[in-house]
Amino acid sequence: MIPWLSLAAFGQGLTALNPEPPPGFDLSVGSCEGCHSEVAAQWAGSRHAVAGTNPIFWEAWTRWPNGWCVNCHAPLAEGQLATLGGLARPGSFPRPQPPAGLWAEGVNCATCHVQDQQILSSREPSTEALLAHPVRVDPGFGGADACASCHEFPFQQPTAPGEPFAIGETLAQATVSEWALSSAASEGRSCQDCHMGRHGHAFPGAHDSERLRSLLKVEVQPGDQHAVFTVSAPGAAHRIPTGDPFRRLILETCADAACAEPVDEVVFRRVFASTGQGWVEVLDRTIPPERPGQPAQRQVQLSTAGARSWRLRYALADHRHEHVLAPEERGYVVVEGAL
Ligand code: HEC
Ligand code: HEC
Ligand code: HEC
Ligand code: HEC
Ligand code: HEC
Repeated sequence: MIPWLSLAAFGQGLTALNPEPPPGFDLSVGSCEGCHSEVAAQWAGSRHAVAGTNPIFWEAWTRWPNGWCVNCHAPLAEGQLATLGGLARPGSFPRPQPPAGLWAEGVNCATCHVQDQQILSSREPSTEALLAHPVRVDPGFGGADACASCHEFPFQQPTAPGEPFAIGETLAQATVSEWALSSAASEGRSCQDCHMGRHGHAFPGAHDSERLRSLLKVEVQPGDQHAVFTVSAPGAAHRIPTGDPFRRLILETCADAACAEPVDEVVFRRVFASTGQGWVEVLDRTIPPERPGQPAQRQVQLSTAGARSWRLRYALADHRHEHVLAPEERGYVVVEGAL
């Protein structure tokens, strides 16, 4: 866990836990890139770099302008740490327009690496490293601990105006728990093995269409007026889709080339319902992670009456406002075939 980001720290005067850089350093990427240009270039192409500014986030955030969101999407933004102690209500957070300074750097080097005036690392530092800056070694930083404070969290608890910010129990994102039960975890493969290739900082995920294409396999058994589709993700270490509940894989049968009005569709996702007190999961139709005795696959039946083809597409944004996004921001077709 990155202690100053942990949910337990909410409401406990987070300013005391401020990540403070070593003397002579500041919290910006500019403070690291001079000596780590290769890592900085990889990071600049990652979703972490645009976590506070990309159109999908910006669209969602300007609808629900909430200090809590910024805690993970631009945690070092000026003013963020000072206001975190409970100011999570819509409209309560001063919004830079357009984002500037540390906000524009999203999840930057210092977010993950700077703690108590030291640089956090998973390995014993070389002499060169120690000459450049103080290094604190934490082997846990080489595993899921380095990701858990942001990649696993519950929904916010509805509270009346004036009540302090609170979180519920149902997990909105559960990537770390999903992974912990997977075969990959028991074989000792951590988030870093797949998302950093041990060292890379591009953090490829669902925005990398080639990665998803090489993971997902679709098998079709045609029948009379319907077909059985088996969608599998061999070796998946967490649900597919994982992460935010609005991520969807959509399987459609189509009568026309553009698939403007699908003949039939099945959506692979998790669905939650509000109880008024919080949220409960009412459906999990994601592809499960691979476990001993449980392959990472799901079988569904779709109508093919009048259909000529099928396609599987990935939708990245919330369906309630994806129409305002440019088509290339909404998602992409992963794989398609004729019937
Ligand atoms: C989302 C968190 C995160 C961000 C952002 C991040 N890093 Fe890292 N970095 C890590 C983790 C985790 C490791 C350890 C990887 C391992 O043990 O496999 C690491 C490793 C490193 C290493 C060690 C050498 C190596 O190749 O493993 C260097 C140097 C480094 N990061 C520099 C940077 C710089 C510079 C930036 C900003 C441009 C940055 N990091 C941004 C998480 C992050
Ligand atoms: C003056 C140059 C310089 C600056 C500025 C600098 N570093 Fe380094 N850093 C180094 C050198 C040199 C190493 C050792 C490289 C090696 O061993 O491969 C290193 C190593 C590291 C490591 C790996 C530590 C280990 O155990 O080997 C991390 C992580 C890291 N730096 C992060 C950062 C971050 C984050 C920043 C910005 C806040 C930063 N560095 C700024 C020069 C610098
Ligand atoms: C400070 C919070 C934070 C930490 C720590 C963090 N992430 Fe993220 N990560 C995010 C946010 C926020 C996004 C969403 C960015 C966006 O808006 O697209 C994200 C996105 C991603 C993505 C998705 C990319 C895509 O294409 O959709 C991957 C993969 C990822 N992170 C891996 C990791 C791994 C592995 C670690 C641990 C080494 C880690 N992250 C640590 C906040 C964090
Ligand atoms: C065995 C390899 C593997 C391991 C281990 C792994 N992932 Fe992934 N992850 C993938 C692949 C492949 C994808 C692309 C498929 C997708 O986007 O759902 C992905 C996707 C993601 C995404 C993007 C999901 C989305 O829909 O936006 C995030 C975030 C993520 N992983 C985080 C993590 C974290 C955090 C861990 C550790 C707890 C982890 N992953 C462990 C292979 C792995
Ligand atoms: C505890 C950390 C955390 C908090 C709080 C948080 N997010 Fe995220 N958010 C993430 C992570 C991690 C991802 C990446 C997961 C994935 O790839 O599916 C993400 C992804 C997203 C995305 C998709 C971005 C993209 O480029 O695809 C949007 C939109 C988003 N979050 C909006 C919000 C909003 C709005 C709030 C506040 C109401 C919020 N988030 C609060 C961690 C957080």
